[in-house]
Amino acid sequence: MKLELINFPKIDDDRGNLTFIEGGKHIPFNIQRLYWIYDVPGGHTRGGHAYRELEEVIIALSGSFDVVVDNGTETVKYSLNRSYYGLYIPKMAWRQLENFSTNSLCLILASLPYSEEDYILEYNEFKSLLGKPVDNDRGLFTHPFSEI
Ligand code: TYD
Repeated sequence: MKLELINFPKIDDDRGNLTFIEGGKHIPFNIQRLYWIYDVPGGHTRGGHAYRELEEVIIALSGSFDVVVDNGTETVKYSLNRSYYGLYIPKMAWRQLENFSTNSLCLILASLPYSEEDYILEYNEFKSLLGKPVDNDRGLFTHPFSEI
């Protein structure tokens, strides 16, 4: 499955809107873990890695932030700012979260428990695992998104 914006059900109500997610129905994998990122100081980024096997859905429960995703061939940026959208990210996609608004709340639904071994932290390793040419001009820890 490819990168995709999922539109969750939204129950409009004068008393306040409601959105829900049902496992096995709205998420294209079995949810094994939830975590959330909050209190991000202005200008900071999170992520900046890929997963070997993990799939995820990222939701801006509150506020806004950008998700930049690179599949090794192209880079796209999604600005998430509605709690009824989730961005599905397949395995083997380099992703970074940035431009967090004040008091934003980022919820991540993950297909696997936390595993340090599943992380690919070096961009050149990510590219070579995809069978793509490695850009040797990039320093080991130079971030690919600095160019977009
Ligand atoms: P990490 O995924 O590296 O965050 P980021 O990519 O935004 O820097 O996680 C930061 C730390 O939190 C790291 O030490 C691992 C730990 N962690 C867990 O213990 N469990 C989890 O489910 C997650 C997501 C992170």
